[in-house]
Amino acid sequence: MTRVTEQFDFSRKFLAGGVSASTRVNRALGHPLYFDRAAGCRVWDLDGREYLDLCCSHGATLLGHGDPRVREAVEWVLDRGAACSYENELHGQLAELLCKTIPCCERIRFTGSGTEATMHCLRLARACTGRSKILKIEGHFHGYHDQVMFSIGTPADQLAEESAPARYPGSAGIAPGLEQHLVLVPYNRTDLLERAFKQHGKELAALICEPVYYNAGCVVPTSEFLAAMRRLTREYGALLIFDEVLSAFRMAPGGAQEYLQITPDLCTLGKAVGGGFPLSVFGGRHDVMQHLMPEGTCQHSGTYNGHPVSVAAGLAAVTAYRQPGFYERINAVAERLYSGLNQLLARHGIPGRVQGLGARFGIYFGVTREVHNYRDAVRHDRQKMLQFVAAAIAHGVYFHDYGGAACHHGFCAAMTDADVDETLTRLDDAMRVMNP
Ligand SMILES: Cc1ncc(COP(=O)(O)O)c(C=O)c1O
Repeated sequence: MTRVTEQFDFSRKFLAGGVSASTRVNRALGHPLYFDRAAGCRVWDLDGREYLDLCCSHGATLLGHGDPRVREAVEWVLDRGAACSYENELHGQLAELLCKTIPCCERIRFTGSGTEATMHCLRLARACTGRSKILKIEGHFHGYHDQVMFSIGTPADQLAEESAPARYPGSAGIAPGLEQHLVLVPYNRTDLLERAFKQHGKELAALICEPVYYNAGCVVPTSEFLAAMRRLTREYGALLIFDEVLSAFRMAPGGAQEYLQITPDLCTLGKAVGGGFPLSVFGGRHDVMQHLMPEGTCQHSGTYNGHPVSVAAGLAAVTAYRQPGFYERINAVAERLYSGLNQLLARHGIPGRVQGLGARFGIYFGVTREVHNYRDAVRHDRQKMLQFVAAAIAHGVYFHDYGGAACHHGFCAAMTDADVDETLTRLDDAMRVMNP
């Protein structure tokens, strides 16, 4: 018995499944790791074991754990009473900074989580267009609300034809019929996207996508598919929504839309925008955002929207992402880590590949050709992934496990070249104990 496993036994008596979020059980271990403290790119579990963190709060702590700039901003707000549920001057300051930084944002609103951001964004798109259907990309993840909990982890044998992907529910308990509002297309299939618009274009309120599809590791859209998404949404009067909850600030200050040079009508931001505190954003064209109450008729509100602690943390974080040299450093670490990982796989004779962009990446086991969409990613070897995560954790590198699926991992800006080298040395030892 360790303190971690004891904690699991204790928590299970009061917390459903022993966790506060279902995906926190690390299935490679059979329980969650309960952490005691964290600093920079390292975390320590309840038994005092130290790990280099390649989860980084699922992408929320892009600056690293306990960043002093974020801490100072939070303490400043706490010292002033942190009155929540009122407007203060920080809201306007962060809104201005985001409108300067994110290409599509002319107006923004704050929400608390990525799930809320996409939920409100889709309602706004429906209010603005008077249409109800949403084009969703097969496999893309947009949070846990019922509108989009379809086709997110569809088993390989349930996918159906590429021309009509199954609207497979991602959870029990979703009211039957909601899937009727969704049209699905596999990522990077321009021919099928064109076909879907021909059939449903006039009924579509929006096309929502992960512009860089990190929820299947790391999949970048082809320039042809990107251009088609922009062209077809304009042609048919649907809104283009980039869900940048995960991709924002990952490879450029303006997120994937800056990197890919395509400006959507609306976008969502989450995770890194709050510097490790609960904050998310949706925003975009002024004429679209004007549909929100009180100017328009679309409701968006909430007691904790724009909590002052999170907004202060967000201001400090976004200011840090905008510092000269920030992304040069991210890209240099990315190159060192991803090429090092690919070399390790080759040296140990483990078939697989790493695809990464900026500070997040995916590892695909048993896959050697480039992954273009969910159908490619779902065929990766889940057992090998579980084996890898367990071995990495045993050797002091924390990877979160997503049930063996190919999903996203990442590093933070606090990681030095020496930390990367230490990570690779530990993973070299981990791979030595894996069966090829
Ligand atoms: C692209 C994307 N959208 C939405 C969400 C949901 O965000 P949250 O977990 O903050 O509700 C996530 C979470 O991983 C995400 O990756």
